[in-house]
Amino acid sequence: MTILAIESSCDETAAAVIKDGTEILSNVVASSTAMHEKWGGIVPEVASREQLKTILPVITEALQCYGNEDLKNTIENHIDAIAVTVGPGLIGSLLIGVETAKTLSFVTGKPIIPVNHVLAHMYANFLDSNRESSSRATARNNNIQFPAISLVVSGGHTELFLMKDEKELQWLGGTIDDAAGEAFDKSARLLGFGHGGGKAIENAIKNSELPSRFAQGKRITNEKSHIQLPRPMMHDDSYNFSFSGLKTAILREVQKLKNQQKFNDSTIQQLAYEVQEAITDVLVSKTIRAVKLNNAKSILISGGVASNIRLREKFLSEINDKRLQINFFCPPIEFCTDNAAYIGSYAFFRGKPEDWHTITAIPDLNVEV
Ligand code: KG4
Ligand code: ZN
Repeated sequence: MTILAIESSCDETAAAVIKDGTEILSNVVASSTAMHEKWGGIVPEVASREQLKTILPVITEALQCYGNEDLKNTIENHIDAIAVTVGPGLIGSLLIGVETAKTLSFVTGKPIIPVNHVLAHMYANFLDSNRESSSRATARNNNIQFPAISLVVSGGHTELFLMKDEKELQWLGGTIDDAAGEAFDKSARLLGFGHGGGKAIENAIKNSELPSRFAQGKRITNEKSHIQLPRPMMHDDSYNFSFSGLKTAILREVQKLKNQQKFNDSTIQQLAYEVQEAITDVLVSKTIRAVKLNNAKSILISGGVASNIRLREKFLSEINDKRLQINFFCPPIEFCTDNAAYIGSYAFFRGKPEDWHTITAIPDLNVEV
């Protein structure tokens, strides 16, 4: 089954063609991130205006894997269904993708599959990202053993799921306030990294002059930076997370350092390091707890924060140190942040076609399945 997938829930406009949920025939992402930098955050109106301009060129480019036929013919001749993110996300942005998908479905007669963006993130782990080797198309998917624990960590969500198989999901818990990505984003702003978010924090540590033991998150060490931040809810019994206290703690540290005239490159780098340590400690600890309580055989991580190298290394070292019989999966970095490839994968494994009349954008779509 070949699916044309469309994603426009935040500031990206993306389209992909995905075969049987795993094989990526094309994957195109346009982002307006650079435009938002000057405002210090995403401006919904700016995002959706950009998306309106880019949606058709992006879809056309994605369909060029079939040559240069016109859009309607290509869909009619090669595509079995159209998948589109209907939520959660920004209403103006979602509407661009949803209305475009509905129109394409109407003119081509192809079924349309509504997709939950947050649930879809985890299916980035089912994609065969090695495009050259299509014979290995199902390799990734086949290696995932169930039950699996799936951690979705994005800008707006931090959610833990029990994945009983490719289709059956059970929500275990999530953040009660800020998401992990949001904590990275707000910390980055407080530290003066603008709109760069978690990636800017990661880069600041990588490029820092901190002793090598801090650098790049390459080594797992017990040594701590001079600044200590809390690990909220790390040891409580629930599957829930809370990251808003972290932001307040950083704000307090920044103010204290400024008052002492010690807010400089070195303390900024130490704070960046400590924020990353605090967030990743909590994420790893809670996920491993879910693994043990559910006798899971695999861990899947996904979402923008899953591209964090330190997070990946901590999972691996925890699994090795504790000799856990568990397979760890994380998508290649380009498939962690928003794209349409995993939207197509989700639609294949879990999606249900609906009549285009009934499809609508749902900004606060529930993830608690
Ligand atoms: O999944 P995503 O692209 O968009 C949403 O659905 O929200 O996630 C974006 C989030 C942002 O909060 C960003 O700061 C975070 O992912 N992020 C990272 C890294 N790259 C992106 N966080 C930590 N380390 C990174 N390398
Ligand atoms: Zn996302």
